[in-house]
Amino acid sequence: MAIESSCDDTSAAVLKNDVLLSNVTASQAVHEAYGGVVPELASRAHQQNIVPVVDQALKRAGIEKEQLSAVAFTRGPGLLGSLLVGVSFAKGFARSLGIPLIDVNHLQGHVLAHFIKENEEDDHQPQFPYLCLLVSGGNSQIVKVNAYNDMEILGQTIDDAAGEAIDKCSKVMGLGYPGGPIIDKLARQGNPDAYAFAKPHIPGYDYSFSGLKTSFLYSLRDWLKDDPDFIEHHKEDLAASLEKTIVDILMDKLKKAVKDTGIQQVAVAGGVSANTGLRNAYQDYARRYKWKIFIPKFSYTTDNAAMIGITGYFKYQDKDFCPIEAPAFARL
Ligand code: KG4
Repeated sequence: MAIESSCDDTSAAVLKNDVLLSNVTASQAVHEAYGGVVPELASRAHQQNIVPVVDQALKRAGIEKEQLSAVAFTRGPGLLGSLLVGVSFAKGFARSLGIPLIDVNHLQGHVLAHFIKENEEDDHQPQFPYLCLLVSGGNSQIVKVNAYNDMEILGQTIDDAAGEAIDKCSKVMGLGYPGGPIIDKLARQGNPDAYAFAKPHIPGYDYSFSGLKTSFLYSLRDWLKDDPDFIEHHKEDLAASLEKTIVDILMDKLKKAVKDTGIQQVAVAGGVSANTGLRNAYQDYARRYKWKIFIPKFSYTTDNAAMIGITGYFKYQDKDFCPIEAPAFARL
């Protein structure tokens, strides 16, 4: 049994070895009205959701809780109040069943999501080493994955994450929350070359998205002076141009990392990997540069317990268990 509650999704999954039997997620609509996740409301919603979600995961897997052999849980990073709900539940559940506890790093879960099997025959999995672009609301990293338990961060954002930048620009445009899926939908009907926004010049494999966000904000402010309805008239082109700029920034550094390391197996993970423009760019680079690419199913891109379960499975094999007193951690 795996439990994930790091942000605003309460999720539970059951795996038999590396094969997924169930993956149940309750998302929290309550935050939409606030344009972002409200930590206190998230914790309360997790408390309401955790028991029914775990119950559903057991039912859908067709097993009784007494058949479980371990409980894996997200220990961090994330919102502390949210984490505490999952961590406390996992501890009580494991203790009551007399089975081991396995703590999982949420980011490692995203990177290993590619190993989730939906059936025994499922074998589209990366070989080690592979590179993984991890892009979510809180992180933008290029990770070199040497083994299940051996990962190196080659580069990461020095300010905002890619998802955060998309969400903030979407907010500036007065669109809903989270902005990612809305921008994605609008971008499909727009011209990606309509507008140019600032791109960062950062050495190495690190990213920066705060300059782009400011450039987007200032450009809009100028255009709105001439046409107060500018956003309404041009939202598709704005979304498409913003998406293209972000995808270009992400892919430029990734391409450099592939070239320098010589590793041609390239994965993508995290909430922003649901983005159509980014997925298309991966397909395009695979064709052009002979990359072997790994793109997760949509259900494994945003926060989910299946990825915590697969990471827990690998740790279970190493008997890498966690003491009951291990606290949650908000930051790495
Ligand atoms: O991994 P995730 O669910 O949460 C964490 O940050 O851990 O990622 C959420 C981020 C949000 O910023 C959301 O706007 C973005 O993923 N996102 C997308 C899309 N779907 C979700 N961004 C672009 N296009 C999408 N289709």
